[in-house]
Amino acid sequence: MTHNILAGNWITAAEDLNGASPVFRRKFILEQKKVRSAMLAITALGLYEASLNGRRIGTDVLQPGFTAYQHRLQYQTYDVTELLEPENELTALVGNGWAVGRIGFNGKVKAYSDKPALIATLAVEYQDGSRVLIITDRDWEYAQSKVRFSDIYDGETYDASWQVKDWKPVLLGNYQKENLIPQEGAPIREHNVFQPILLKTPRGETVLDFGQNLTGYVRFTVKGEPGAVCELSHGEILDKDGNFYNENLRSAKAKLCYICDGTEQTYQPHFTFMGFRYVRVDQWPEEVDPSRFEAVAVHSYMERTGWFECSSSKVNQLYRNIIWGQKGNFLDIPTDCPQRDERLGWTGDAQVFIRAAAYNYDVEQFFRKWLKDLAAEQEPDGSVPDVIPNVFDSQMHSAAWGDAAVICPWQLYLTYGHKDILENQFHSMKRWIDYIRSVSEDGVFWKGGTHFGDWLGLDAPAGSYKGSTDPDLIAQAYFAYSTSLLIKAGKVLGENMEEYELLYQKVRGRYQQEFIRGGELICNTQTAYVITLYFHLCDQPIPFARHLAQMIEDNGNRLQTGFVGTPYLLHALSENGYAQLAYTLLLQEDFPSWLYSVNQGATTIWEHWDGINEKGEMWSTDMNSFNHYAYGSVADWMYGVMAGICPDESAPGYRRILFRPITDKRLSSVQASLKTVYGKVASGWYRANGKTVYIFDVPSGCTAEIQIENQNFSVEAGHYEYKI
Ligand code: BGC
Repeated sequence: MTHNILAGNWITAAEDLNGASPVFRRKFILEQKKVRSAMLAITALGLYEASLNGRRIGTDVLQPGFTAYQHRLQYQTYDVTELLEPENELTALVGNGWAVGRIGFNGKVKAYSDKPALIATLAVEYQDGSRVLIITDRDWEYAQSKVRFSDIYDGETYDASWQVKDWKPVLLGNYQKENLIPQEGAPIREHNVFQPILLKTPRGETVLDFGQNLTGYVRFTVKGEPGAVCELSHGEILDKDGNFYNENLRSAKAKLCYICDGTEQTYQPHFTFMGFRYVRVDQWPEEVDPSRFEAVAVHSYMERTGWFECSSSKVNQLYRNIIWGQKGNFLDIPTDCPQRDERLGWTGDAQVFIRAAAYNYDVEQFFRKWLKDLAAEQEPDGSVPDVIPNVFDSQMHSAAWGDAAVICPWQLYLTYGHKDILENQFHSMKRWIDYIRSVSEDGVFWKGGTHFGDWLGLDAPAGSYKGSTDPDLIAQAYFAYSTSLLIKAGKVLGENMEEYELLYQKVRGRYQQEFIRGGELICNTQTAYVITLYFHLCDQPIPFARHLAQMIEDNGNRLQTGFVGTPYLLHALSENGYAQLAYTLLLQEDFPSWLYSVNQGATTIWEHWDGINEKGEMWSTDMNSFNHYAYGSVADWMYGVMAGICPDESAPGYRRILFRPITDKRLSSVQASLKTVYGKVASGWYRANGKTVYIFDVPSGCTAEIQIENQNFSVEAGHYEYKI
C-alpha cells in the first residue's frame, strides 16, 4: 500500500515553547474490523521520536537524520500494524536537532526552521480492502513535553516531574514538501554499550570512565526526591593531573540535566549526542553507583567488512582507534568530529578517509546519500561548499575539500563496482572540475583562491593552522588528480573525454612549469613531494622519492604532514621503493607519529599529532579534537600495502583483486580480510623457519594477480599459499 506523506500537513506548536520540545498527539478509534496493515510515514523539522499507544515506533535514533534539508528531507516509513488497538493514540516528540537548533561554530546559527515541526500520515488498511488515512492536520494537539531543552551541541534537560497537560490545537505550518524524500541513508542506531569505572580526580571530581572515546550518550537509572537535579558533563580526556577536561569542546556545553520525580527511572537523552569517554557527575541525588550508568555508542548502520591484525600490538591498537574514529564520526553524515561545536560534514576530511572507511565497513549507502546532498548543494558555478550539509553563509571552496565531489564517487565505484554511482554523480564531478577551470588562469592554473592548505601540517608557521606547503601547489595538484579521475569515470560511462584529457595534459604540464625547477620542487615540504609522487605529477619519480626519503630521514624518521600529505605519505614511499621507510614511519613511537597517540592511551584518532604534547599539555583548547578520523586514513595502507589487498580498476568491486603485500622484518605477521560484493577476500603473511609464508583467498567468480617479492602469479578463485 502506498503511504503518501504529502497527504499530511506540517504542524507546529501555536506558541514559542522557549526551547522545550513539543509533543504532538492524535487520538483515533478504528472500526471494529480486522486490520491488514498500518504504515506510518513520518518526518520532522528537528528530530522526532514517535510512539503508538505508548510504545516507541522503530529503534532508530536521531531521525530523520541530517541532509541538506532545504533540498532533501528524508521521511521514514514504519509498519505499525502490531502496535494498533481499537482505541489509539499516536504521539510524536519533536526536538530541535540539526534543523532548528544551532549548528556551525563561532556563534553562527543556521536554522532550517524557526521551530520544530512534524508531518505524518498513517495509512490503515482493513482486511476487507477499505482504508483510513490519519494525517497531520488541525485534529492534532500539542503540549509541552518533559524535554525542557535539547540541542545537538549543548545537550538535553529533561524534567521527569513535569506534567504533560494543557493540550492545545496545533497550527498548520507553511513549510515546503517538495523536498521530502524517502529514507536513503543508513539509519542511525544504538550499537556498543560500555560500563564505567568510578574515579575520584585530584580536584575531587566524581568521574565515570567508560574506557573508550565514543559518540553517543549515557543511559542511567536514578531515584531522587521530586525536583532533585542530576547533572552530567562530558569530556574526551583527563588533563595531565588526571582532572576532568572539556575545554576543547569550545562552545558546545554537552551537558545532561535530569530532574527527578521521586520514583526510580531510567533515562537516556532523546535529541542530542556527545563525543566522550569521561563523564563528570556534577550533581547527583544519591550515592553515585557506576553500575547504574552505561554509555551507548550510536552511529549509522554499516556492516563491518574489513579486519586487520598484525604482530605489533601497538599497530593493532592504532587500527582499533581508526575503527572507533569511523564509528564515532559516521553519524548520518561523515563528520570531522563528534564533540565540539562543529560535527559537520567537512568535505576534505571525508575524502581523505573514504578509502580506509570503505575497507572497514560497507559505506556505500551512507556515502551515496551524502554525495547526493553534495550535488544538491553545489553552487550554480559548480563550486562545492566546504561542509555538506552546508550550514555556513560564506565558503572557501578549498582544493582537497571540494575534490570530495570526484574522489568519493570514484572510491565507491572501485570498492563496490556499481557503475550507477558514477552515473548518479558524474554531473556533479564534472561541475567541480569545470568550476576549477572557470577560476583558473588560462583555464589551467588554479592560482590564488582561498584554501585550507595542508591543514594542521606540523611545518605550519607559528600561529597558523596551515602547513607551509604552497596552497597553489596543492590546488594545482588536486586539479590534475581530480581531472584524471573524472576522465576514468567518464570512460567507464562511455563518455567522450577528449576535452578533459587535453585539459589534464595542460594542467599537469603547468604544474611542472610552475613548481618544478631543475628536477626538484620549488616548495620543499614533505607534503609537496608526497602529492607530486602520488598524483604522478613528475615524469621521473625516482629522484623525487629519494628527496622525500631524505627529508624524512633528516627529520629523524618523522613526518611533518597535515590533512593533505598524510593520507598519501606511506603510499608515496612504498610505491617508489621506500616501503621500509614507510614502515619506519608507521612504527615510529616518538612524537610526531601515529603510535605516539597510542602510547598516550588514545582510543580514537587525534586531530593533531600533538593533541597532548610531550609535556602532557594540551596543544590548544581551540582545535583539539581527540576523535578526528582524518589521520586514520593510514588504514588504507595497512590493508592495501601491509596486507596488500587492492581493487583493480579494470574489474572493480574486487572482481579482480591485486594482491601486493610488502613485508617488513620488524613484523612477524600481518593478516587482513575483506567481505566484498563477491565474497571474502583474505591476504596475510607470517614468518616460518626463515621463510615468509603468504596466504591468499580469492572468492568464486573473481580472479587475482598476486605480486610477491618480484614474482607474479595470475590466479582464479581458490586458496593459495606460497613459501618464499
Ligand atoms: C575541522 C576540520 C576541517 C577544517 C577545515 C576544522 O575546524 O574540524 O576537520 O577540515 O576545519 O580546515
